[in-house]
Amino acid sequence: MKQSLENKSILLIISGGIAAYKSLELIRLIKKSGANVRCILTKGGAQFITPLSVASLSEEQVYTDLFSLKDETEMGHIRLSREADVIIAAPASANTIAKIAHGRADNLASTTLLASDKPILIAPAMNPEMWDNEATQGNIQMLEQRGITMIGPAKGDTACGETGMGRMSEPEEIFGALLSFFYERPLKGYKALVTAGPTYEPIDPVRFIGNRSSGKQGYAIASALFEAGADVTLVSGPAALPDPVGINTIRVETADEMLNACQSALPADIAICTAAVSDWAPKDNKTSKIKKRRNHTPPAISLKENPDILARLAKDSPNRPDLVIGFAAETEDILDNAREKLARKNCDLMVANEITEAENVFGADQNHVHLVTLDDSEEWPRASKKTIARKLVVRIAKHINNPKNNKENTLNVRRIEAAE
Ligand SMILES: Cc1cc2nc3c(=O)[nH]c(=O)nc-3n(C[C@H](O)[C@H](O)[C@H](O)COP(=O)(O)O)c2cc1C
Repeated sequence: MKQSLENKSILLIISGGIAAYKSLELIRLIKKSGANVRCILTKGGAQFITPLSVASLSEEQVYTDLFSLKDETEMGHIRLSREADVIIAAPASANTIAKIAHGRADNLASTTLLASDKPILIAPAMNPEMWDNEATQGNIQMLEQRGITMIGPAKGDTACGETGMGRMSEPEEIFGALLSFFYERPLKGYKALVTAGPTYEPIDPVRFIGNRSSGKQGYAIASALFEAGADVTLVSGPAALPDPVGINTIRVETADEMLNACQSALPADIAICTAAVSDWAPKDNKTSKIKKRRNHTPPAISLKENPDILARLAKDSPNRPDLVIGFAAETEDILDNAREKLARKNCDLMVANEITEAENVFGADQNHVHLVTLDDSEEWPRASKKTIARKLVVRIAKHINNPKNNKENTLNVRRIEAAE
């Protein structure tokens, strides 16, 4: 079925940035797809494009003023938001983002957003210094924590002549994000298994071998899969994060326990292995605490190899999930190493992080990844782990909904009984 925005109502907020000219193309794409689009143009936005162009393309009155007697009687700010299925701010200026983050209501756009009970999508557009500014980054984090969806920004040349993060995503990409927002839970009826966090391999009852994984990326992916309608099991190593809403979370400690929990969760259609599973475990787990004794040399710990959970799940077998995605943290030759791992472990896609001093992803809220397949790779610029998770889920949904990858063809995606 072709995805379209037929009969949807979109409220588009255009704020003051040079990228406002791109929102004219966005209006055209939305209209062409059969949706109704009403626009709020801020005073800043109106410095860059005229209300007349917006009205002509949207075929609707353009709303600019909070205190307009005419607008407020005909279509008040509350109705503007209530009659929309979704609100999208594109471009979203640093100023408008700050207002939303802090609950300001001093113009029509910010008042409508504050009074809204609708999902909000935001396409930021600004100079790279403005984007990188701690104030903006803090505001973005606040919005994401409130469940507002970010579209971009992208990296590249900005209109002010500087290069970096801050360029508004292209209208086609924003339109694509809008489409995926309206896909009716594209993963409904699919079963997904996600592993997350570190493993703790006991040396004795009080000590263990662990690692710095926080589990944030895996938890974000589990939540994004759930939002997309999947039936999700999250097998988590020790992580200081609460069980995500709606997800069957199984807590484990060791790699062996994680493998058992994963195998019990099969069959699944999708497996995403983000857990940092310890490669080794102490050969013998002492049942009593190893005592430190004066004049004794430190104890030697001999190690045994742990099961490779990703490789086990991806191994050809009747129980193999149709789509197996691995995560690889690499310190060097990131693409080559990720590709070698992908081939060796027989998975379909590897998401690779570069671990450097400058980009330590462990525990951070942001991530910078490369999507690696056998013959291709794609870099996703630094973004919040939630954004990366949502982008990955959009990719998975597209893959699964692509007729080339369905049962009759290569991927043999298994639809389980849809839980109504
Ligand atoms: C030429 C010019 C270009 C601008 N481009 C941007 C921009 O791309 N992003 C941004 O956040 N602010 C930009 N600004 C600043 C905003 O227009 C300004 O902060 C304004 O108050 C935004 O108001 P609004 O959010 O209500 O639209 C620009 C200003 C000028 C004069």
